[in-house]
Amino acid sequence: MDNQKRIGILTSGGDCPGLNAIIRAVVKCATKKGWLVYGIPYGTDGFVRLVKGISKPEEYLLSDRGYDIQGGIQGLDILQFLSGSILGSFKKRNLDLPGITQDIIEGYKQLQLDALIAIGGDGSMDIIYDLAKMGKWNLVMIPKTIDNDVAMTERSVGFDTARNTVTQALYDLTFTAASHERVIVVEVMGRDAGHLALHAGIAGGADCILIPEITPRLSENLIKKICTQISDLQRKGRNFALIAIAEGVKNMMGEKEKYIAERLADLIQEYSQKLPHSEEKFNTLDAVETRATTLGHLQRCGIPSSFDRILATVFGIKAVNLIEQGQYNRLVIWENGAVNSKSLENVIPLIKWCHQQDGCPSPVDPNGFMVETARSIGILLGD
Ligand code: F6P
Repeated sequence: MDNQKRIGILTSGGDCPGLNAIIRAVVKCATKKGWLVYGIPYGTDGFVRLVKGISKPEEYLLSDRGYDIQGGIQGLDILQFLSGSILGSFKKRNLDLPGITQDIIEGYKQLQLDALIAIGGDGSMDIIYDLAKMGKWNLVMIPKTIDNDVAMTERSVGFDTARNTVTQALYDLTFTAASHERVIVVEVMGRDAGHLALHAGIAGGADCILIPEITPRLSENLIKKICTQISDLQRKGRNFALIAIAEGVKNMMGEKEKYIAERLADLIQEYSQKLPHSEEKFNTLDAVETRATTLGHLQRCGIPSSFDRILATVFGIKAVNLIEQGQYNRLVIWENGAVNSKSLENVIPLIKWCHQQDGCPSPVDPNGFMVETARSIGILLGD
């Protein structure tokens, strides 16, 4: 077949729900055109495996066969319901190891690919973009991350499912918090961004949401404000409270802490216990009891939500179409409720600059409507 293409697809960086749905969409759409799709296992490490003779190109070929559940869902269709990545993913590849970059580029050549679809967050994009330049690859990237912090796209695959997971967790915790009259502090992932904590906090009924964009670190003043909020709630008859804290919020010394929710829970309990009974403002707080819950990697699990499956499918098809049109070096994006793409020449410099500053490429806008929404319903944001 003359215009039969050979394309590769890989998943790189932390997994999230919806990766397999992207793979499914790409394989379905590309094989319909008569193309060959190679699934590169474990990110760019799959190229190294070829060069080292650990794997053979034909083992990477993906098709509409396989993945069957006997008598049930057939072919690729099971994939859209599975989280994780059937290809595996690689978080840290030490490109400084002698020969690794050359092996990756050589592995790509061995597969004789016309183009590569790389599914990743901004960390992977930064690295894969450089490799693509060196190896002269035709690259199209698809954004995924529960953190929703990829530059220039309003949504990344995985965020919506994680948002549902955290929302559900907050809802579930409400009942134990209420039964024991406790303040429960819930630590939410998101790396340096607060999107997940902010969105799920609003949807899940948090009384206080702390995100690094608004409260970069804990402080005595902040603890006092939180205790005032709890006290105000108690006066209105609420004997429990839920606090969502994004993992990117630093401790009082301005350092990242492994379990920041536990630190905050302890600080609230200590502060409230120190208060004199006579101090009217806090007189109901002397017995406040706190607990911390870190949701951890559960936030990267679960059946992808319908929105993530739709986003994954739309993004996968867009990537295949870009390749068909010979439009390479692009990031597939979600913009104003529709799929689009941006040149990586515009996206990557911004990502690289943010990495150099140790910053986040797409933080929560402190003046945006989501922050305003939270404030308008009385959620304390700490500022
Ligand atoms: O970037 C996705 C993410 O889940 C972040 O929210 C979190 O900080 C990090 O990855 C956890 O990484 P790891 O899987 O290496 O523990």
